[in-house]
Amino acid sequence: MKKLVVLAGAAIIALSGQAFADQKLKVGKKIYDRAFGRGCGACHDISSNPQLKELIKSGKLDKAKFAEVIKEGRGGMPKAVDAIMAVGPVKKAGYDVDEAIDAVYEYLAQ
Ligand code: HEC
Repeated sequence: MKKLVVLAGAAIIALSGQAFADQKLKVGKKIYDRAFGRGCGACHDISSNPQLKELIKSGKLDKAKFAEVIKEGRGGMPKAVDAIMAVGPVKKAGYDVDEAIDAVYEYLAQ
C-alpha cells in the first residue's frame, strides 16, 4: 500500500512538471504574439530582422544574450521588459521578468 502511495505521488509530480512546461510554452507563445500589441513577430517575422527561432536553434543566440537584448534594447530593437510583463497571460501566470523571458525563449527554442 505504502509503495502504491509513493508511486501515485511520483506520477502526480511528473504530471505537474509536464503541466508547468506546457503552460510555459503557451505563455511564451502569447508573449511572442502579443507583446507591443502586434507581437515580436511584427518585426522578427520580417526576413531582414534577426530570425530568433533559427538563431536559437542553431546555438547562435544563448539565453543570456537573448535576455540582455530584451532588457537593454539594441539599435532598432526596443527595450521589451515592460511590453512582455504587460501581456495578460504573463500576469495571470504570476511570472517574474526572468521567468517571462525564459518562457518566450523556450517557446522559440522548440
Ligand atoms: C519594432 C520592431 C521590433 C519588435 C517589436 C521586436 N524586435 Fe527584437 N529586434 C528588432 C531589431 C531591428 C533587432 C536587431 C537589432 C540590432 O542588432 O541592431 C532585434 C533584435 C532582437 C534580439 C537580438 C538578436 C541577436 O541576434 O542578437 C532579440 C533577442 C530580440 N530582438 C527579441 C525580441 C523579442 C522577444 C521581442 C518581443 C517581445 C522583440 N524582439 C520585438 C526589432 C524588433
